[in-house]
Amino acid sequence: MSFSHLRSDFPTLCQENPPAYLDNACVTLKPQQVIDSISDYYSKYPGCGGRSVHRYGTQVSRLVQQSRKTVADFINANSPNEMIFTRNATHSLNQIAKGLSWEKGDVIITGDREHNSNLVPWIQLKQEFGIEHRVVKSNPDNSFNMENFEDACSDAGDKLKLVSMSHVGNLDGVKIPIKEITKVTHEHNALISVDGAQSTPHMKVDVQELDIDFLSFSIHKMCGPSGMGGLWGRTELLENMRTIQAGGQTVTSTTYDSLEWAKPPSKFEGGLGNFAGLIASGSAIDYLSKLDMNAVHEHEISLNRIMTNGIKHLNGIEIIGPENPEMRSGICSILMNQLPAHDIAILLDEAAGVMVRSGQHCVHSWFNDRGHKDGSLRASAYLYNTEDDAKLFVDTFCEAVEAFS
Ligand SMILES: Cc1ncc(COP(=O)(O)O)c(C=O)c1O
Repeated sequence: MSFSHLRSDFPTLCQENPPAYLDNACVTLKPQQVIDSISDYYSKYPGCGGRSVHRYGTQVSRLVQQSRKTVADFINANSPNEMIFTRNATHSLNQIAKGLSWEKGDVIITGDREHNSNLVPWIQLKQEFGIEHRVVKSNPDNSFNMENFEDACSDAGDKLKLVSMSHVGNLDGVKIPIKEITKVTHEHNALISVDGAQSTPHMKVDVQELDIDFLSFSIHKMCGPSGMGGLWGRTELLENMRTIQAGGQTVTSTTYDSLEWAKPPSKFEGGLGNFAGLIASGSAIDYLSKLDMNAVHEHEISLNRIMTNGIKHLNGIEIIGPENPEMRSGICSILMNQLPAHDIAILLDEAAGVMVRSGQHCVHSWFNDRGHKDGSLRASAYLYNTEDDAKLFVDTFCEAVEAFS
């Protein structure tokens, strides 16, 4: 299925010589609807939601509430109140890490291909509170090793408190079997937090069907405004979780020495909100809600197939993850070995308008463990990319590799 008819919604793709934008694992382009929502807030009703009762205030409150419901429905949450707006997925993961109560010796398990946002908070808790962080080793091709995971859970025994895993890795696009992982986690009476930064934008993610406990995601990777993310959690967990952003909006009342916490989501959304971002988040997710997300996923895989088949024969490079692009979603991440990844990324843009990412993509741990200090060059597709974008990437990349070899 092609989504090329949607390209006209994206102003950056309607310019003369639009780029082949293949840096979607970092941040996506924005459709006009989202840009209009931001502009409408500032030009028509730039007030404060949730507090002021004048016309601007009530309009903003209504639109934010609508936005929350749109996002909650997109992930099939039980209630909009389970949907907390955050600044980004990093903020969401930190809220979980620093909001749960920990005892010395409690165990948290992650994978070995985690973004720093699902690694650093755990290392911090280890250093500050003495929790134990254990890493499950993947198979040599980066696919998930269920046996290693089950062993790690059994080893942790009743100390296992939380499993936190990225659903799809930003390193390589590899998807892990979250439903099975959740089942094992719950059998060990532990909680599961899913880092959905790379899955929620690209496929149907249904929190009830997956039976998970927390989901963190980046709305800026879903056609939404920058500075916006989401945290979903089961109601009873949110009710008992400590907020890391206490202040205005998070309480129903205070005295000089006491307080009454507000219910979620308010408890977690302290301080004046990014109202333009909150409202535009609803527009972005409304935009995605009209699409068949499984078809989006298939489309991205078909583009990855073109990229993979077009470059895999080149000498000196290596695609990270399984050979089969179907197991790497829309991400083609290439170890450049002796070739200069940054220089080639600059050349791709300058020569042909192909925009990709180079470096360690905040997965330093994986690269450092293997001694790849320069990281990789990563092309990542989204719904508006076309076969022509993928072919242009292949042609330009092949020429660049030849030029630098
Ligand atoms: C898998 C994964 N987790 C977490 C993050 C952090 O997301 P954010 O930039 O929204 O904090 C990213 C961002 O690239 C990511 O790819």
